[in-house]
Amino acid sequence: MGPRRAPSLPRGPGLRLPLLLLLLLLQGAGAGAGRPPHLVFVLADDLGWHDVGFHGSRIRTPRLDALAAGGVLLDNYYTQPLCTPSRSQLLSGRYQIHTGLQHQIIWPCQPSCLPLDEKLLPQLLKEAGYTTHMVGKWHLGMYRKECLPTRRGFDTYFGYLLGSEDYYSHERCTFIDALNVTRCALDFRDGEEVATGYKNMYSTSVFTERATALITNHPPEKPLFLYLALQSVHQPLQVPEEYLKPYDFIQDKNRYHYAGMVSLLDEAVGNVTAALKSRGLWNNTVFIFSTGPGRSMAPAKHDSFLPEYSTFNTSIHAAIRHKNWKLLTGYPGCGYWFPPPSQYNGSAIPPSDPPTKTLWLFDIDRDPEERHDVSREHPHVVRQLLSRLQFYHKHSVPVYFPAQDPRCDPKSTGAWGPWM
Ligand SMILES: *[C@@H]1O[C@H](CO)[C@@H](O)[C@H](O)[C@H]1NC(C)=O
Ligand SMILES: *[C@@H]1O[C@H](CO)[C@@H](O)[C@H](O)[C@H]1NC(C)=O
Ligand SMILES: *[C@@H]1O[C@H](CO)[C@@H](O)[C@H](O)[C@H]1NC(C)=O
Ligand SMILES: *[C@@H]1O[C@H](CO)[C@@H](O)[C@H](O)[C@H]1NC(C)=O
Ligand SMILES: *[C@@H]1O[C@H](CO)[C@@H](O)[C@H](O)[C@H]1NC(C)=O
Repeated sequence: MGPRRAPSLPRGPGLRLPLLLLLLLLQGAGAGAGRPPHLVFVLADDLGWHDVGFHGSRIRTPRLDALAAGGVLLDNYYTQPLCTPSRSQLLSGRYQIHTGLQHQIIWPCQPSCLPLDEKLLPQLLKEAGYTTHMVGKWHLGMYRKECLPTRRGFDTYFGYLLGSEDYYSHERCTFIDALNVTRCALDFRDGEEVATGYKNMYSTSVFTERATALITNHPPEKPLFLYLALQSVHQPLQVPEEYLKPYDFIQDKNRYHYAGMVSLLDEAVGNVTAALKSRGLWNNTVFIFSTGPGRSMAPAKHDSFLPEYSTFNTSIHAAIRHKNWKLLTGYPGCGYWFPPPSQYNGSAIPPSDPPTKTLWLFDIDRDPEERHDVSREHPHVVRQLLSRLQFYHKHSVPVYFPAQDPRCDPKSTGAWGPWM
């Protein structure tokens, strides 16, 4: 599901946009040499469209810009609006209506994970002879050991299992309803063991160091799969002071810190590509940079104008694209327009749609910013796309969104982790 409003800008960490994917297919990668290419997938978290130099941002991202200039830019690539669905898709190759993960995310105390009967990308790559490493954010469930990255195809894992935390303390606080208590505990692991030795060390730097060490120690004749899911630039807005220096001109305090975080992310990517180069892996590497999720979602009210169209319940948050047409239903996410930072005066432009509206059709060839709903002008297109949505809906598995299990309580161990 893409954003309804195209190139808008997050004001703080709350608004997110799906965006770019860079595919750097290097000369001779795989082909000819007869050797499978190394695969390095760097996933940023909550990076906005307008937050990279090659999209015209004043935030400086020289390393990403260079990759964009020398690689393939997929500007029409969609990610999911939230962490768990987008990460589950990436690793399972399955849309979340087929895994039960279509509702929100997996919260810390939910006994849920990416279904164990799904064979994940690292498992398949292992079968194809790859060494598989994961560094960074998992967020695909951890209530049982069988759910952990090391049991899902990764030879090694170093990172955090939940969706967000403090960049320095690596702690996550969560309210546990059944116990009526907010619990803060460590979420940081090396393999399956809790890693306590990284306090006050900025996660992205620690992850980058691990990633470059893995690259440096990798035997070049063996194909490498490295999935580096960085914490940057998800909230909280934390970054070492030195990265803020170039951004004195940014008035907005949140954006100022956010800009520093993006600069650090850019440097991290530079360090990883440098390690690949100095190890001599670069000329046979497919290097992919992408962001994870987009926006938040919530249920919407029914739109009285629709029922005659189809049996599809348009209160459901869904989107479908066919050729130039893009249809959206349900709550569209934040409907505000945020001007670019240079023109931002503190107030966003509110949506003009009534809150009961639950369907939009856009002609994205003519209207790439999705400003003009043309559903009334093209009822036959709407009918067709809704019936396709109904088809997918009929073939989806039920949402799996279990209640919190109070046994998740990390009080006795001091760390979030499997409790069953
Ligand atoms: C990559 O570079 C190394 C060292 O320079 C060379 O031996 C190898 O043949 C190159 N591989 C490809 C696929 O070009
Ligand atoms: C939850 O705990 C707070 C104090 O921490 C207390 O004020 C409140 O009454 C408790 N709620 C329930 C439902 O027990
Ligand atoms: C990148 O590498 C340099 C040199 O080793 C190091 O000083 C810097 O902290 C690294 N940056 C990140 C974000 O890891
Ligand atoms: C349509 O979906 C909404 C939100 O998911 C739900 O609350 C409502 O009951 C559904 N309506 C029908 C007729 O199924
Ligand atoms: C900000 O700019 C918009 C037009 O872009 C204007 O309507 C609004 O009144 C301005 N707000 C402030 C606080 O100046």
